[in-house]
Amino acid sequence: MSEPRKLYVRSFGCQMNVYDAQRMTDTLAREGYVETETPDDADLVILNTCHIREKAAEKVYSELGRLKKAQEEAGRRQMIAVAGCVAQAEGAEIIKRARAVDLVVGPQSYHKLPELIAQAEARGSNRRAGIVETEFPLEDKFDFLPAPTPAAIARRGPTAFVTVQEGCDKFCTFCVVPYTRGAEVSRPLAKILDEVIRLAEGGVREVTLIGQNVNAYHGIDSTGGAANLAELVRRVAQVPGIARVRYTTSHPRDMDDELIAAHRDMPALMPYLHLPVQSGSNRILAAMNRRHDRELFFDIVERVRAARPDTAFSSDFIVGFPGETDEDFADTLDLVAKVGFASAFSFKYSPRPGTPAASLEAQLPEDVKSARIHALQALLDRQKAAFDEACRGKRFDILLEKPGRFPGQLIGRSPYLQSVVVEAPKEAIGTLARVEIREVSTKSLAGDILDGEFFSARPAGESRLIGQDEIVGEKLEA
Ligand code: 5AD
Ligand code: SF4
Repeated sequence: MSEPRKLYVRSFGCQMNVYDAQRMTDTLAREGYVETETPDDADLVILNTCHIREKAAEKVYSELGRLKKAQEEAGRRQMIAVAGCVAQAEGAEIIKRARAVDLVVGPQSYHKLPELIAQAEARGSNRRAGIVETEFPLEDKFDFLPAPTPAAIARRGPTAFVTVQEGCDKFCTFCVVPYTRGAEVSRPLAKILDEVIRLAEGGVREVTLIGQNVNAYHGIDSTGGAANLAELVRRVAQVPGIARVRYTTSHPRDMDDELIAAHRDMPALMPYLHLPVQSGSNRILAAMNRRHDRELFFDIVERVRAARPDTAFSSDFIVGFPGETDEDFADTLDLVAKVGFASAFSFKYSPRPGTPAASLEAQLPEDVKSARIHALQALLDRQKAAFDEACRGKRFDILLEKPGRFPGQLIGRSPYLQSVVVEAPKEAIGTLARVEIREVSTKSLAGDILDGEFFSARPAGESRLIGQDEIVGEKLEA
């Protein structure tokens, strides 16, 4: 029998790329590829790229340079594919700029990878004739991407991302997503549920529903009508084995009453909401074409907190959008101070080719952007530290995910996605434990499992208390 070919996939950027990387791996597993941990011994290297900011896109080219150098030094030939949003946005330009690339494949064509690889192989070392596939095909790639095997699910651990919606119709003036990922499309409810059932049977306990505009979800249901995200969350939470549900990333305009009520009514929906606001200035929000003002954001925060008082918020911010004045920026700091975030991502505005904001005249100098991002991050860091500190002494259910750094330790996640280190046997991975938080540091929390008790996630959505003996003594039933 011939040796299996080795595949190395490196993902940049958002969680959708993590999900896509898994689906590409599943597709190529059928072709006899096995995953490897480093690019060094790989026959095929896929860089799954991000185009959202200039820095993210440039990383691809430096990585391609590194790969080419390593290949030359080792005197070996690997196939190199560029996937993801840079592939979609730049297409054949990539092959012109980085000659080591054999194949460029956009996110809507991953189901075609086997045939594209075969075409690239047929061209052999004639790299000038690299293959480029960046169409938005009519067929739905999800119908052709194979599901992960039980072994692949088990290897990936008890949490999983599931793409439920892709693309965006909002056209914020700074953002490339509507161009790279295309128009907003939702997957049918039944197909998502099938995927979640399979994941749960393989040991997954927490599912994060992902989409560039996930709360605009409107997938077709069994009656031919459209199910919204609240309905999808409810159905996913009912899948036996699923204990926790999250969704990301959302737009304030699509936080409807039903979704807010879901935060009140569904204990499996984690009390942690990532809701990008980008700016606290109404003038800048309008220039960004966000189609809402700061008052709407405050209103949502208030309503979600009223529905579920233990909800914590995270968000995305952009500083230095063209024309942003000191007063506008002060409004962003003021919004942050008023809401109080458990965590957040903040970025300097990065002009992206083809987006309306990139051609605005009032681009801000780098030093202004830098000063603002430092001020904003200092405030967000203080809020995060205060939130973490307030967790000391609190009791949470922690989903135990993987071994810790030292023997006898496991690392799990709190409802707020904080890493929590506990002492527990490795057989407890994939269960929930009731934990009292004892220590707080910048990177993680540490806690004690109360009474040595763990929870499995059966039956449907509700946690069942099980004794430690059951875990230590025998494998948990799936
Ligand atoms: N410049 C800086 N940040 C951006 N983001 C999206 N486009 C840009 C850009 N051109 C940020 C937004 C978005 C997150 C995923 O990336 O905050 O929510
Ligand atoms: Fe980009 Fe705006 Fe769509 Fe989010 S909502 S993906 S920021 S265009």
